[in-house]
Amino acid sequence: MRLNPVERMMLNNPARRMVQRFYEAPLLLRMAGRLEGKRALEIGCGQGFGMEIILGKFGAAKVCGIDLDPKMVARAKRRVSPHGSHAEVTVGDVSAIQAPNQSFDAVFDFGVIHHVPVWEDAVREVGRVLKPGGIFVFEEVSKQALERWVYRALFEHPKENRFTAEDFVAALERNGMPLGGEVVHFVFGDFFAGVGRRTG
Ligand SMILES: C[S@@+](CC[C@H](N)C(=O)[O-])C[C@H]1O[C@@H](n2cnc3c(N)ncnc32)[C@H](O)[C@@H]1O
Repeated sequence: MRLNPVERMMLNNPARRMVQRFYEAPLLLRMAGRLEGKRALEIGCGQGFGMEIILGKFGAAKVCGIDLDPKMVARAKRRVSPHGSHAEVTVGDVSAIQAPNQSFDAVFDFGVIHHVPVWEDAVREVGRVLKPGGIFVFEEVSKQALERWVYRALFEHPKENRFTAEDFVAALERNGMPLGGEVVHFVFGDFFAGVGRRTG
């Protein structure tokens, strides 16, 4: 599901980039480690700042970004253009990723799967495109957060079948991506982050 104008404004601004740079990236880097020379996919790449983090902070050699919203894709393309062939952005749906099986060493989800109506399809697709031993690095928004009045009043998300961290981790396990370590909860448990690893 595409963002409504309020959420789009909140994401396409320097405050979102600061949170991503100074909180989420260091947290996920501690959990996942560097990806020197690896090939990564960012689902729902939005304005493309996550792709820059994946190249710069994680050290990936190549990052592909997909987003459902052509306007976001245009924005991300502009942002990553200095990286040349190391970064590629296309319109795409995480529920049906246009990539062969086992084609990425890492997949990143910076707060995207809670926007997908049948979110289990997105998890299945992530598992399909990861190589054995590849990692799924995620930061997600819980059902508890989406039920708060502020989220319901300001933003637009699918209403049915949202997930807790436990539901999400169980779906990763069903799709061959058990967690190597712990899940970190933050902002009163509204958000959670972790790293799943694709089994062989
Ligand atoms: C909350 S924003 C996060 C954007 C970016 N990852 C960030 O952290 O700033 C969610 C993004 O996912 C995209 N999106 C929503 N559903 C999607 C889907 N099914 N497939 C791909 N992208 C999707 C939206 O267009 C939006 O850019």
